[in-house]
Amino acid sequence: MSTRKILVTSALPYANGSIHLGHLVEYIQTDIWVRFQKMQGNTCHYVCADDTHGTPIMLRAEKEGITPEQLINRVWQEHYDDFKAFHVEFDHYGSTNSSETREFAERIYKKLKDAGLIEQRTIEQYYDPIKQMFLPDRFIKGECPKCGAKDQYGDNCEVCGAAYTPAEVKNPYSAVSGAKPELRNSNHYFFKLSADTCQQFLREWTRSGTLQPEAANKMQEWLGAEGENKLTDWDISRDAPYFGFEIPDAPDKYFYVWLDAPVGYMGSFKQLCNSKGIDFDAYWKQGSDTELYHFIGKDILYFHALFWPAMLQHAGFRTPTKLFAHGFLTVNGEKMSKSRGTFITAKSYTDHIKNTEYLRYYYAAKLNGTMEDLDLNLDDFVAKVNSDLIGKYINIASRCAGFISKRFDGKLGNIDSAATAEFQSAFKNGEIAHCYEQRDFSRALREIMRLADVANQYIAEKKPWELTKQEGKDAELHEACSTAITLFRDLTLYLKPILPVLAGQVETFLNIPPLAWNGTWKAMPAGHTINTYQHLATRLDPKLIESMVAANQESLQPPVQSEQRHAAHQQHTANKEVARAEKDFEPFIGIDDFSKIDLRVARIVNAEHVEGAEKLLKLTLDIGEEKPRTVFAGIKSAYDPEKLKGRMTVMVANLAPRKMKFGMSEGMVLAASGDAPGLFILNPDDGAQPGMRIK
Ligand code: MSP
Ligand code: ZN
Repeated sequence: MSTRKILVTSALPYANGSIHLGHLVEYIQTDIWVRFQKMQGNTCHYVCADDTHGTPIMLRAEKEGITPEQLINRVWQEHYDDFKAFHVEFDHYGSTNSSETREFAERIYKKLKDAGLIEQRTIEQYYDPIKQMFLPDRFIKGECPKCGAKDQYGDNCEVCGAAYTPAEVKNPYSAVSGAKPELRNSNHYFFKLSADTCQQFLREWTRSGTLQPEAANKMQEWLGAEGENKLTDWDISRDAPYFGFEIPDAPDKYFYVWLDAPVGYMGSFKQLCNSKGIDFDAYWKQGSDTELYHFIGKDILYFHALFWPAMLQHAGFRTPTKLFAHGFLTVNGEKMSKSRGTFITAKSYTDHIKNTEYLRYYYAAKLNGTMEDLDLNLDDFVAKVNSDLIGKYINIASRCAGFISKRFDGKLGNIDSAATAEFQSAFKNGEIAHCYEQRDFSRALREIMRLADVANQYIAEKKPWELTKQEGKDAELHEACSTAITLFRDLTLYLKPILPVLAGQVETFLNIPPLAWNGTWKAMPAGHTINTYQHLATRLDPKLIESMVAANQESLQPPVQSEQRHAAHQQHTANKEVARAEKDFEPFIGIDDFSKIDLRVARIVNAEHVEGAEKLLKLTLDIGEEKPRTVFAGIKSAYDPEKLKGRMTVMVANLAPRKMKFGMSEGMVLAASGDAPGLFILNPDDGAQPGMRIK
């Protein structure tokens, strides 16, 4: 079997923020897959880099009183250290601000230009006359054209969730200087994505199995029906001042950060090639038989599934073999939140919970290769690590290894081949390897844990702790423990992509060469000497999690009553979710997004004050279910509970329940508020019945 040649990337993190647990979903996932490929004997290169260009990075550096280069160098080191701590092992970690990336960006641009796919056009854009720069949408603020809320961003309103263009914002001001922006003309460069050749190519590319089914559906939406030509041209230039690469022959024009960001994959790989003597063209020339995979979050699918392949194709490079998009991380069922202490940076995790493989294990148990969001439930995290990883896996070694050392001079004996049969056939049928290949790590782990159960069952039947006390049972004890250690070795092999450090410790303990995942199953021979068992891992103490969450809460939000924050949060969450970081595209949400929110007519059966709560009322809501819901709502300032009883209102019925100081809150009622005082809950028209769906 000839080995595959594979190039793998993770998305390039922005150089203006810290790596957090959300990012790690991607980097850990990619790393596991890459380690698996390498263990299979494939040639696999894993590259990444910091994404360093753009206005936010330029302004942030300015604010800190340093140059953008100083900023990106500092952040590069931070990112590098964070990834290392989580054992994310890149073959090269570069920066988009490199001569290699610049050269490829220029080369691609020139090819596109030669192909007639670059066009100049004058556009009207807001300009900050004090700062003397054009303003990206995110740097314009003003009043929402729909609800009038003040200080909203130039592209959407966090209060009412409306999406709009900066030109529609009332009384706009620059978020950089506070100045009133002026509309000015500027000459921009566009990549003609609307050209037939691009649309046709992208249709074919989508059909050729390069995308997961959910991603392919999204693409269909973006492309529209055959002949519909829905794609519009892409603005790839920005005016000075801008931190980025200047466009050749276009003074004071820079490539928009998203043009050179994916080119950074090539730039970083080129640096690796230079240092290791790898043939760059073998991986990037058109028609290459090597494989190229990009792991990305679903939020950046647009850039990777449209612009990037179209650019590569028309610049004479190969296109990606596949895109592997994943969903977003939630913590305890909700978006990561600074106020709840669940916006946790990589650094904060390592400060509190030293063992980063626990998180790798948990993420692996949740990852299934789809674009679904995944939840880090902190209680479940502790439970899974302790019951599976420690209770099922580590336990095998800790229960059996001591006997080998103490009673048999560290030497293994014969193996009970009946007991290893199941493991041998698992090795042969390749089911676990198949799951890894498909990025269905959760299924791989279920199968691995099933085998761990088999091993534990064997030990429970043999009872080495009893055999050791019985006369004349030495051979039986020796065989039982040697067999269990062999099964433990197999489990370690399977877990190695996920737990590389632990696996390394096990290899040392078992005195064996690095575990590789090819060839045929072999037992460790009788007489093989293993080392004395040293403690491999301890249980995860839930207190560490508590202190981590508390630390993140404190450092970001002074001890305001959490009740108050929750109340404020309740009113804004729904809107914020809608307005969520849709980076430079899609100012609208689809109906699918809207229909995720289960809005119901509710009858307020009871309303009462909550002792010790300044802002909350406890509401009992009938929404046609067997048991009424309890919801804590931050509306005490506006309503006398007696007057609420019997009224009808509207609630979000599928908001994850949230444990509060005063009890469980099982949803949220909606209320309107503005800058002026006052809070107004909603009222359906007469005739609406409890439980009716609002859509
Ligand atoms: N710089 C761009 C990517 C350029 S790739 C040529 C970017 N950077 S990012 O720092 O915002 O995100 C990096 C990766 O982390 C993205 O794939 C993104 O989807 C992923 N994640 C960021 N937050 C995440 C979660 N909360 N959950 C899961 N993945 C998340 O986008
Ligand atoms: Zn609004």
